[in-house]
Amino acid sequence: MLDGRVFSGVQPTGNLHLGNYLGAIKNWVGLQKDHETIYCIVDLHAITVPQEPTSLSTATHEVAACLIASGIDVNNSILFNQSQVPQHAELAWLFNCVARLGWLNRMTQFKEKAGKNRENATVGLYAYPTLMAADILAYKATYVPVGEDQKQHLELTRDIAIAFNSMFGENFFPIPDPIIQKTAARIMSLRDGTSKMSKSSASDFTRINLNDDDDLIAQKIKKAKTDSEPLPDNVRELEERPEARNLVGIYAALTNQTEGDVVSEFSGEGFGKFKPMLAECLINTISPIRNEMNIILSDTVELDRFLAEGSKRAQSIAEPVLAACKSVMGFVQSSN
Ligand code: TRP
Repeated sequence: MLDGRVFSGVQPTGNLHLGNYLGAIKNWVGLQKDHETIYCIVDLHAITVPQEPTSLSTATHEVAACLIASGIDVNNSILFNQSQVPQHAELAWLFNCVARLGWLNRMTQFKEKAGKNRENATVGLYAYPTLMAADILAYKATYVPVGEDQKQHLELTRDIAIAFNSMFGENFFPIPDPIIQKTAARIMSLRDGTSKMSKSSASDFTRINLNDDDDLIAQKIKKAKTDSEPLPDNVRELEERPEARNLVGIYAALTNQTEGDVVSEFSGEGFGKFKPMLAECLINTISPIRNEMNIILSDTVELDRFLAEGSKRAQSIAEPVLAACKSVMGFVQSSN
């Protein structure tokens, strides 16, 4: 067990896909081996944009089931949903009074999500990063596995921790470090190697969903866009071939190899040979997760028990941290 504590969060969104699995979930599973790990389904972040109540609970269950099916061990890691631990929202308020408008105004995710109609964005969407800082710092987490797109939010978390420490007590919060996923291969659309695989793309053939059946996975790979060249013997030659590169990257991530290993294995081969091998790998990875997910989702009472248990364990860490924060800030509190 290494020093430090890992914390990460995932939004409860329906339709988890291969990009979510290879980009985050697989890494989370691996981190359990030698770290204390806390994983949170961030339902309070989800409502920064309008959510249908029934879809919110369904998506929360789906993400929880997917994490467990993928290998998050609830007896070891703490797995819970954010709204069951009130300390997140309370600490976020304290941080709203530490963070500055100028800091939040720089956040590119807000600009992107709010779009042109900024006046109509929720206040919650604007304050999203202070809640994220609260998620992390409520556990005094030191490592935060995130995708490239969340680096700026982590920087803000560090700024909040530094500001809080300088106002209220040196070394109160540790300054957390990001862990940017090692499988650097971003998983791209199967139809356009220059845009990210996404649940919101109109065509389902751009992505592999974690609940696709085996035949559909094979079909999607068969129809994935490629070019007519064989695979080269070095990665550099893939640079101008985004679709080919994406498939090589997926194969490498699935088999825990580098892209270099993969091209040297398949050098000179065409996609007629490579694609069926890739489909087989995908099916070997996804079908057990899909099957396990369905079993877990058939008993949501049991699943809710896991989440309640995780929330209790989370709260036992977050509550004293929040109480200590309030104490150094000068709030009068009852002592028990
Ligand atoms: N904002 C993150 C995302 O969309 C999710 C998240 C919320 C998170 N709180 C977090 C990630 C704390 C890491 C740590 O991906």
